[in-house]
Amino acid sequence: MTTPQPHTQQTATAVFPDGFLFGTATAAYQIEGAAREDGRGPSIWDTFSHTPGKVARGDTGDIACDHYHRLEDDLDLMAQLGMDSYRFSIAWPRIQATGRGPANQAGLDFYARLVDGLRRRGIRPVATLYHWDLPQALQDAGGWGARDTAFAFADYAAIVGEALGDRVDVWTTLNEPWCSAFLGHASGVHAPGVTEPVTALRAAHHLNLAHGLALQALRDRVRADARFSVSLNLHVVRPDRPDDAGDLEAARRIDAVGNRVFTGPMLAGAYPGDLLADTASITDWSFVRDGDLADIFQPLDAIGINYYSTSRVRRWDGSGSNNHSAGHNVSTASPWPGAESVQFLTQPGPYTEMGWNIDPSGLYELLMRMHRENPELSLLVTENGAAFADDVSTEGETRRVHDTARIDYLRRHLAVVQQAIADGADVRGYYAWSLLDNFEWAYGYEKRFGLVRVDFDTLERTAKDSALWYARLAQTRTLTD
Ligand code: FCB
Repeated sequence: MTTPQPHTQQTATAVFPDGFLFGTATAAYQIEGAAREDGRGPSIWDTFSHTPGKVARGDTGDIACDHYHRLEDDLDLMAQLGMDSYRFSIAWPRIQATGRGPANQAGLDFYARLVDGLRRRGIRPVATLYHWDLPQALQDAGGWGARDTAFAFADYAAIVGEALGDRVDVWTTLNEPWCSAFLGHASGVHAPGVTEPVTALRAAHHLNLAHGLALQALRDRVRADARFSVSLNLHVVRPDRPDDAGDLEAARRIDAVGNRVFTGPMLAGAYPGDLLADTASITDWSFVRDGDLADIFQPLDAIGINYYSTSRVRRWDGSGSNNHSAGHNVSTASPWPGAESVQFLTQPGPYTEMGWNIDPSGLYELLMRMHRENPELSLLVTENGAAFADDVSTEGETRRVHDTARIDYLRRHLAVVQQAIADGADVRGYYAWSLLDNFEWAYGYEKRFGLVRVDFDTLERTAKDSALWYARLAQTRTLTD
């Protein structure tokens, strides 16, 4: 793989094109709370977070930001910040408590209120169908390891498309299927906490199939001008020693199991031959049935890119422990199928509070790669942002959070988005992760990504300086130093 770099220095003033959307992103389980209300069934994240030892401090999404009950206030907040767009996810277990059967009207009504509330405020809705909260009943029947789950997902997509299809601008099928498949079923640090390499590969295929079947289900049911996408957390993987054949091979393996396992079938209609070869001792891939690849390879309008940091790898010589934690940057061998001989090295800093290295050039590289490989598709940065330990100060009557490190992170990443546009990539929007501090999966509430602070005792919201900075950017559309 080549590693293109922004070829010009960031100019002092960069103007985003007309129509470029500035937004924020969230996910249902991370913000909604109301986990047992209005007919919502349990999801794998309810089960996982209630299992001792799985989430830091035993935090759960039972209440989260209580967004379910504070919807109007949160919509007003977005309007005050002048957001053009909002990316949210729909909780499958609110729509079908067990993942099958008739729709739960109360669940649909909540998302109808959300979408209508956005539109009334001139904010364009981007709906993600699946951000990791699989109904527990489907998990009990095999979860993403089972083929049926993909067909159940298509039925769910049909229900949602029917109900909201006249009002949603962009549909995103899956959020980061890599995390669902591999953090969920190989390293096991995410729900459902399985650690079986072959199940991870089966899950990846069934997620791909779910994506394609859902697109087919949506297409006839939604507005003719709706756009379709999927949000992928593609790995920017760098060989530690660029001249070392073993390190280059390590990077190729991670590119296969981290990226092309999804982009291959979704964007080119085939699994990459090198991935099949890398994993041949684990599976013969007979779970891929005739016709599946045609079902998966459906027209898309945009690729959603979620980007936080980069990875550096070398060939693992077998020394050191194998204890992978979060899927970003670790210094041990990899639990990813077909890439057991790959070691992830700690990246040079600076780091965010997650321990993830800050490297905007990785975002530039991804945008340019996706543009080069799929010139007919537009791109959306559907997530980018940073956790930092925020200090709250009280100035007069007002609480303030002077989160200059977050502003710096956002500014530097937006600068490379601007550069990628200048260099020809059709990037149409940027969604800061996240609108609110929220339930950060296995890390619980400790890691704060929000532009808006949430006090988890009182649930009070406070716009951080980064929110005010981002609001100004959305208004002026101009990035200044
Ligand atoms: C991404 C997830 C999102 C959030 C950010 C920090 O992997 O899609 O829900 O947790 O990381």
